[in-house]
Amino acid sequence: MKKIDVVLGLQWGDEGKGKVVDVLTPDYKVIARFQGGPNAGHSLVFDGDHFVLHTVPSGIFRKDSVNVIGNGVVIDPVILMEEIRAIEQKAGDITGKLLISKRAHLILPTHRMLDAASEAAKGKGKIGSTLKGIGPTYMDKTGRNGLRIGDILSPEFKNRYEALKQKHFGLLAQYDFQYDITDYEKQWLQAVEDLKRFPFIESELVVNDYLAKDVPVLAEGAQGSMLDIDFGTYPFVTSSNTMTAGVCTGLGVAPNRVGKVMGIFKAYCTRVGSGPFPTELFDETGEQLRQIGHEFGATTGRPRRCGWLDLVALKYAVMMNGVSELIMMKSDVLNTFKTIKVAVAYEIGGKQLDYFPFESGEEVKPVYKEFKGWDCDITGVRKYEDFPQELKDYIAFIEKETGCPVKIISVGPDRKEIVLR
Ligand code: GDP
Ligand code: IMO
Ligand code: MG
Repeated sequence: MKKIDVVLGLQWGDEGKGKVVDVLTPDYKVIARFQGGPNAGHSLVFDGDHFVLHTVPSGIFRKDSVNVIGNGVVIDPVILMEEIRAIEQKAGDITGKLLISKRAHLILPTHRMLDAASEAAKGKGKIGSTLKGIGPTYMDKTGRNGLRIGDILSPEFKNRYEALKQKHFGLLAQYDFQYDITDYEKQWLQAVEDLKRFPFIESELVVNDYLAKDVPVLAEGAQGSMLDIDFGTYPFVTSSNTMTAGVCTGLGVAPNRVGKVMGIFKAYCTRVGSGPFPTELFDETGEQLRQIGHEFGATTGRPRRCGWLDLVALKYAVMMNGVSELIMMKSDVLNTFKTIKVAVAYEIGGKQLDYFPFESGEEVKPVYKEFKGWDCDITGVRKYEDFPQELKDYIAFIEKETGCPVKIISVGPDRKEIVLR
């Protein structure tokens, strides 16, 4: 029996999960998303094209792959159908290679309104949500009010939809918030119909059956560990468990069936939305990272906050995910930097900490170790041996601190711009 391998983000999202999953898919038959929803934006670059996937697993463009949207995912039918249409323009009909869990919850038009109303009411304390309805949908899931993909096939679906919508209208009345769902609702109901051409499955049975038959399966995370509902920088987090534990609940795979855990991080650090970010740079260096790294959100277009690599947060994420190997992305973005810094500890109230604390807000001052930059273009490098010594030193330090080997180093956005060790 095979074990399920996992790829997930160790920072605040946008580490490059889409690219890595696309690169690794030839080694796997099945790619499965286990949490999150259209708040995710996973970029794939190949053959001169650039795709952003939100709900569909990033294996979809590889021939003969099976792509599963697991029970832990929340689905907006409008966004999913738009995405499917864009994929099919490039890849042809994908009906047979996209399977959707009956247990995945539906994002209703009113969930989006509730997300927007709640954010507006928070004013300065807003989360910086992508406003895709993620929080309210997971609230209805845990509150046992939600509608699921499998419910679409019930003769009672329309009535249940109406009932939940009315309940949401009641909640929305408590906010000073103007909205009109007429157009979106029309599109939504049509998209629900359109989705019926895809198999709605008991994905927990299907995934376990593949594993039992020795078929390799890869779980694809969304967001990042520091946005995890339990261990992230709460309340500035998303509403799902983004860590390895989420694979078990989001796909129905037992903990002892988890195999390799591949943790992805950028050679520096970014965050989009509000919340603590100890190594954030507000100066020209931060702006340089943003411009060179094209750090603008794949889902919302918002500028990403940028800063140095935070090893305190990274070690925390490695520990809780049980990371067995690391993947470093966007190393090329640091090509022109003369000096590169890495946070190795935090200082809070005059005391040094080497672990990620409950209090991770403004009172945290990072303690940096400085490295000499490689100051040359590594985009064309395809063999580890050909990397400049300064980059090898940087990687060796990260390996020593985290206790994990760095097995893949990405040197550009394209599928081909990658160094496997
Ligand atoms: P994801 O959400 O983790 O899949 O990451 P995103 O797609 O949101 O953000 C990653 C961005 O970096 C995308 O624009 C990718 O095309 C790009 N990217 C991925 N790997 C590299 C790399 O090694 N170098 C550079 N320069 N860009 C990369
Ligand atoms: P991928 O999968 C980066 C952030 C939002 C906000 C917070 C809550 O592309 O890495 P939500 O919409 O979930 O209520 O937003 O989480 N966020 C992400 N940041 N990458 C993502 O996904 C994100 N998904 C949500 O910016 O701060
Ligand atoms: Mg992204």
